[in-house]
Amino acid sequence: MVHFMSKRSDWATPQDFFDKLNEKFNFDLDVCADATNAKCKRYYSIEDDALSKTWKGYCFMNPPYGREITKWVKKAYHSAETGEATVVCLLPSRTDTKWWHEYIMRADTVWFVKGRLKFDGHKNSAPFPSVVAVFGDYSDYKEWRLGGFFTYT
Ligand SMILES: C[S@@+](CC[C@H](N)C(=O)[O-])C[C@H]1O[C@@H](n2cnc3c(N)ncnc32)[C@H](O)[C@@H]1O
Repeated sequence: MVHFMSKRSDWATPQDFFDKLNEKFNFDLDVCADATNAKCKRYYSIEDDALSKTWKGYCFMNPPYGREITKWVKKAYHSAETGEATVVCLLPSRTDTKWWHEYIMRADTVWFVKGRLKFDGHKNSAPFPSVVAVFGDYSDYKEWRLGGFFTYT
């Protein structure tokens, strides 16, 4: 069953796209989700308020894309800085924003997705390009960079 997101700023990750990432990272935690769209067994919901928690392990983050996106990207950056978390972020590729320049430019890896994602619950492809930004350590770095992994056409 397709679940339509309650807010326009919530774009649920396409399951096949998440599965590919999960094959590599084997995520411990989906840091922002609800019971209908959680990508991992362990997740934080709006009731938990993920921004007030400590994030640990391999974390997946596809946050709400409204104005609050800055708080999420900042939290991802600082969670990795402690060495306790690697945060893999699926974000709109908004290269002109303050949050991009302040945080994404300091990410350990940035992959630009070729093609437009078809987010779960949406009939058409997204009207914006996407990016996967990784804050923190992970293995197989070179293989990933060279593998053309993020083609989505
Ligand atoms: C873009 S959706 C992503 C859902 C899912 N993780 C995925 O990738 O398909 C963002 C989710 O963040 C949740 N959310 C919003 N504020 C939150 C908060 N403070 N703490 C945890 N989750 C929150 C929303 O309810 C929504 O389900």
